[in-house]
Amino acid sequence: MNILIKNAHLIDCNQNFIGDLYIENGKIKELGIDIEKEDVKTIDVNGLVVMPSFIDSHAHFRDPGFTYKEDIETGSLAALKGGYTGVCLMGNTKPICSSKEVLDYVNEKASELGLVDIHQCVTITKNFDGQTIEHLESFENDKRIKAISDDGVGVADSKIMMDAMKIAKKNDWVVMSHAETKEFSGVDMRLAENMMTWRDITLAKVTGAKLHMCHVSTKEAMKYIIDGKCDGVNVTCEVTPHHIALTKDINDYRVNPPIREREDVDFLLKAIKHGDVYCIGTDHAPHTEEDKKKGAPGMVGLETAFPICYTKLVKDGVIRINKLSELMSKNPAELLKMNKGMLSIGMDGDVVVLDLNKKVKINSENFKSKGKNTPFEGMEFFGEVKMTIKNGEILYKG
Ligand code: DOR
Ligand code: ZN
Ligand code: ZN
Repeated sequence: MNILIKNAHLIDCNQNFIGDLYIENGKIKELGIDIEKEDVKTIDVNGLVVMPSFIDSHAHFRDPGFTYKEDIETGSLAALKGGYTGVCLMGNTKPICSSKEVLDYVNEKASELGLVDIHQCVTITKNFDGQTIEHLESFENDKRIKAISDDGVGVADSKIMMDAMKIAKKNDWVVMSHAETKEFSGVDMRLAENMMTWRDITLAKVTGAKLHMCHVSTKEAMKYIIDGKCDGVNVTCEVTPHHIALTKDINDYRVNPPIREREDVDFLLKAIKHGDVYCIGTDHAPHTEEDKKKGAPGMVGLETAFPICYTKLVKDGVIRINKLSELMSKNPAELLKMNKGMLSIGMDGDVVVLDLNKKVKINSENFKSKGKNTPFEGMEFFGEVKMTIKNGEILYKG
């Protein structure tokens, strides 16, 4: 698809200027001032911000198996509404994504839909049994795999995790860790995260594997990550919008890891400012009202992530918008080896049109996601997604 976007405030991780952007055959072809093209679809955005679309390093689409909570179509539509064109999906589906069959199913359904690009994680241990990693061998030449994860559960056995890291290193896969020491779950959720974070960093140091810590929420876990980086460990981490926007004393919404204290939030913000955080991951976790009542942890996140992060990080003066673009586009794209994330010639023509001055009131009734589970209901944030364009095609218009 070819499309010329005129009069845009073009922003990515290292650019910020008023100009035009031309996408040809689905890829960014030209960017500059006063670009003229004949016979192409032209849209004048009248000074609105155009950024690379967002990439989510962490989401749950519940397909196959729990499609009453979400399916690949509704999850993708939610992603597009939130300005996302790429998502990394976790494997806690039914069946669990430990086989080629499940991987094929997700990838085929996603490409038939043609909405967002999906990276489906294969689980570290087969069917989350915590012990078996032989299935990973069957994926060794599968170019679709960039990352493996036992998100939702975690890998309790340290030796198994070490062996999995060795396999991941050999294949240049990222190990995405849900850090939770089960012995402490329900007893001390802070210790549960901290201990496992320390263990995984230690194992990554020994094995040289590329480790990505999911949804980091405590000050101590973040400190271990910073220390690990200083020590040369190949570790990156993500922070969720909810762990930077909420504190336990005000809104203790059930999610795993839990909403933390003010001190933790302040430390996460400092880590973001100092460049210790690699990306924003939503941990989009749709549940029905009934399942939430029964205690299911998690919240939907794709449709609220940008306004929350823009308000809490940029409006509140923690970082500049270019840095936010790095956290929401460039770095997660790099993690998942997607040809996206910057306004650079040759990259996928995936951009989002934003009205940064527009206040949005969160209303779950308007969500495209089947999940309405959000602690942000009724809250107001700045930054509305007006349009999401993927490979030069307008796939969402607000
Ligand atoms: O809150 C959470 N929800 N944390 C997880 O680790 C899993 C997720 C889910 O799948 O619902
Ligand atoms: Zn998790
Ligand atoms: Zn998750």
